Amino acid sequence: MQIYDEECQQVGRAERRIDVGATAIDKGGYRHFMAKEIAQQPSVIADVLNHYVKGDRIVLPDGLDFREVDRLSLVGCGTAHYAGHVAKYWFEALAGLPCDIDVASEFRYREPPLSPQSWFIAISQSGETADTLAALHYARDHVSRTVGLVNVGTSAIARDSDIALPTLAGIEVSVASSKAFTCQLTVLAILALKAAHDRGRIGDAELAGHLAELRAVPGLLQQTLDLSDHCRALSEWLSQAQDVLYLGRGALFPVAMEGALKLKELSYIHAEGYASGELKHGPIALIDRDVPVIVLAPYDHLFEKTISNMQEVMARHGQILLLSDHEGIAAANDGVYATLTMPGGGNLFQPILYAIPMQYLAYHTAVAKGTDVDQPRNLAKSVTVE
Ligand code: M6R
Repeated sequence: MQIYDEECQQVGRAERRIDVGATAIDKGGYRHFMAKEIAQQPSVIADVLNHYVKGDRIVLPDGLDFREVDRLSLVGCGTAHYAGHVAKYWFEALAGLPCDIDVASEFRYREPPLSPQSWFIAISQSGETADTLAALHYARDHVSRTVGLVNVGTSAIARDSDIALPTLAGIEVSVASSKAFTCQLTVLAILALKAAHDRGRIGDAELAGHLAELRAVPGLLQQTLDLSDHCRALSEWLSQAQDVLYLGRGALFPVAMEGALKLKELSYIHAEGYASGELKHGPIALIDRDVPVIVLAPYDHLFEKTISNMQEVMARHGQILLLSDHEGIAAANDGVYATLTMPGGGNLFQPILYAIPMQYLAYHTAVAKGTDVDQPRNLAKSVTVE
């Protein structure tokens, strides 16, 4: 391979060996890479926590003092964009830090006015997505710091950001993102906690409490993996559907959109993720007994609101799959088609846990339909063109 610059002059680049263990690129006994990558989540998220959290302290590269920033712009595409959307809820609620979230393809051409005291965070598994890279290039002329949240440490976004934060998911082969998403969420949760602490919104004790909650996540994820068989059983029902709706509120709204994206790309079934409260502003017209509606409702301060939206669907004969914890299922399972019981209740980091059944429902539905799980039609793992 020879490399040339813009003037067609040949340039030299140091050779760098990338150490990819054999285990990273085989299916490890699973039928598909995606099944393996879903199952790896407890261990890769533990790796993320070990990397960024030491005892009750968050350890990040220099230059990430959130007292200096007045606004964040989070940008990504597809699943990475939904990770940023979840993080918006965390940054705003925990740190009181205003946060804009956008898809890179819109951000890059919109010429958004950006505060010189703001930071820009590009989120990307591959670190090569053309739109996200272009958005980063726009932002670096307007903001005080750019951060690249990337899984591939040698990528263009890692190189071109002021600070690159690895998401440490390991190689993700399946085109549909799974572990990269939950690792992005975990790094973003750590950043939001750092922001809250730096800005004096939480003290040492509260930070330690939240970090303890985060450290519990790998164990809870391990329990969540047990839902695989139940999701497989439900996939027979889902695979008959032409349209599926996913509903969530608060930080579970972007997870609902991620669930819909997973189902679309893997099983080719039309699916939409909606904020539960938006249902009556249009999508409720779609509801009949043939449209499965998947409701994400942890038993928290928004539970009653989401359940009231769920009842509006049931009154129109919609068939509900309710995902909640024990308390939520006990309170609201009357008349629903099926339930999936999630661990824990009221935990701030529920979006990481709820990602798992989103992945399994899509995965098993794709297997039931016989689609190409690891390489869905028309899709590429890394979108390096517009
Ligand atoms: O490599 P990136 O994270 O920048 O990729 C962004 C999207 O192309 C990607 O998340 C896509 O939506 C996935 N196929 C979703 O599973």
